[in-house]
Amino acid sequence: MLLQHKTVRQIPLTQPAPDHAPRLHVAIISDGNGRWAVARGLPRSAGHRAGAETARRVIEAAPRMGIHTLTLFALSSANWKRPPAEVQGILRLLHEYLLTETTHCMEEGVRLSIIGRRDRLPATLRQAVADSEAATAKGTRLHLRLAVDYSAREAIYHAACRFYKVTELSPESFSTVLAEVLRGGSTEVDLLIRTGGEQRLSDFLLWECAFAEFVFLQKRWPDFTADDLEAAVNEFNRRERTRGALPDAIAG
Ligand code: IPE
Ligand code: MG
Repeated sequence: MLLQHKTVRQIPLTQPAPDHAPRLHVAIISDGNGRWAVARGLPRSAGHRAGAETARRVIEAAPRMGIHTLTLFALSSANWKRPPAEVQGILRLLHEYLLTETTHCMEEGVRLSIIGRRDRLPATLRQAVADSEAATAKGTRLHLRLAVDYSAREAIYHAACRFYKVTELSPESFSTVLAEVLRGGSTEVDLLIRTGGEQRLSDFLLWECAFAEFVFLQKRWPDFTADDLEAAVNEFNRRERTRGALPDAIAG
């Protein structure tokens, strides 16, 4: 659910979110791991490992900023074009994360979902995903969605292929079909953050970002901190979201 921007602005970000807090969906294109590592004379894999640590910190910090859904772009379907060893390394990190963090997620009220294709993931990872999703299903504090082997265009295409069977045709029913395709839901993004200096969407959440606010940062993902997340949320809160209507000051 999206709340009015003025309500959002009044929330003290350092306090735990009260019941009436804004419930933001923040999506992050966590880019720059490879460049971060190369700049330090390290292999790209070290950048992905450092990036996974950043993800842990950000996930920990998100709920107290009024974020109820956090979607992180862990692996794009386009990333299969990279050397297999790099992609396998990223998938191994994900597997490690699921094994080490699932209990922590349960304790912290984090519900974990994977969005994207699963059929190309190793069977053991697929099982770990299913186990983590089942174990954390009751979490209500934060919905953590990791986009893995994810392509928004492909997801929309598959949803469109199923949509012809739906009798109640509406944008809402299309979103429902898309959520089924993704398995981890499909909710509107409020704030999209991209680290690493590029300013593009890279096939991420095309449908869900229709009215998202974008924040682009030069910082590479391993250097991103909870303070950076808070600053981005503050920036979001300063913006007026008109969704095509007139700004409040003009509308009167
Ligand atoms: C983002 O960092 C992580 C993934 C795509 C998995 P990159 O690996 O794209 O890092 P750069 O952009 O090459 O620095
Ligand atoms: Mg990149």
